[in-house]
Amino acid sequence: MLIRRPPDIPTREITDERLYRSRRDFLRSTAGAIAAGALSPALLAACGGRGAEAEAETVGLAGQDELTPFEDVTTYNNFYEFGTDKSDPARKGGSMRVRPWTVAIEGEVAKPGEYDVDELIRLFPPEEHVYRMRCVEAWSMVIPWFGFRLGDLLKHVEPTGQAKYVEFTTLLDPEQFPGQKRRILDWPYVEGLRLDEAMHPLTLLSVGLYGKTLLPQNGAPIRLVVPWKYGFKGIKSIVRIRLVRSQPRNTWQISAPNEYGFYANVNPEVDHPRWSQATERRIGEFRRRKTLPFNGYADQVASLYAGMDLRRNF
Ligand code: MTE
Repeated sequence: MLIRRPPDIPTREITDERLYRSRRDFLRSTAGAIAAGALSPALLAACGGRGAEAEAETVGLAGQDELTPFEDVTTYNNFYEFGTDKSDPARKGGSMRVRPWTVAIEGEVAKPGEYDVDELIRLFPPEEHVYRMRCVEAWSMVIPWFGFRLGDLLKHVEPTGQAKYVEFTTLLDPEQFPGQKRRILDWPYVEGLRLDEAMHPLTLLSVGLYGKTLLPQNGAPIRLVVPWKYGFKGIKSIVRIRLVRSQPRNTWQISAPNEYGFYANVNPEVDHPRWSQATERRIGEFRRRKTLPFNGYADQVASLYAGMDLRRNF
């Protein structure tokens, strides 16, 4: 099936979430993706490798959840390397060089190495995962991510018996990231997961969204997505993944330890010291929704925390 994109459809409509839904069938197929010109050559190669019949995966999306419009997903961002205003990442991201890009995999693994991001995409063909995302600031979005399971990569590099946690690091380059010229945070941005959280099938390394290669503002070319945790765990523009023996200190915990913990599981019963976490505003809506434990993914992930005091381990 070859579906051509009519030349008169404006980009704004192509990226409208309803049109996206109706087009995703053909975006899933190599022919459709070529016709739409939406995916990078590397993503295309990866999709083609799986064959046009490969069903993209839609995980964890409740029926009533509408996709957040592409426009909002790509213009309302937290990426302090570009500045603290929500509009800074989209306005200032243009100077970022996202290729060539390598991710170093280090520490407690049998097969450490430097992986080119396009090599990772070839090794682990990305699939679509539509996730609800909840920011610690009490807003939320529903995003059709394109990515592969972090667990697949970790299995490939063979963690040693000593590996207990995974530490992620963002690129440090004040020339590309003007925000790093100011001490807003302790640069480079660092995040961490416990190994079992990192291996969980919901945990992704994302390389795209809405069927397109990631834009700088969303963490190009490769970023973490953990849908049951607050958004700050989703570290962007990753250059290093290190398997370690003890719990890493993540950037927000260093910056304000009483406000941001290591676990950062979405929990409506544990408020942020300065605001409630009981409800959230979905971007594009006015009403407030109730926030769900583990952001609605409790059935899949609550067992990871059995017996833990989640008020203390916030
Ligand atoms: N990663 C880096 N390197 N720098 C950041 O400032 N912000 C975090 C997270 N990852 C951030 C980051 C926060 S607070 C959120 S809510 C999410 O990215 C936002 O991701 P999005 O802009 O793609 O929605």
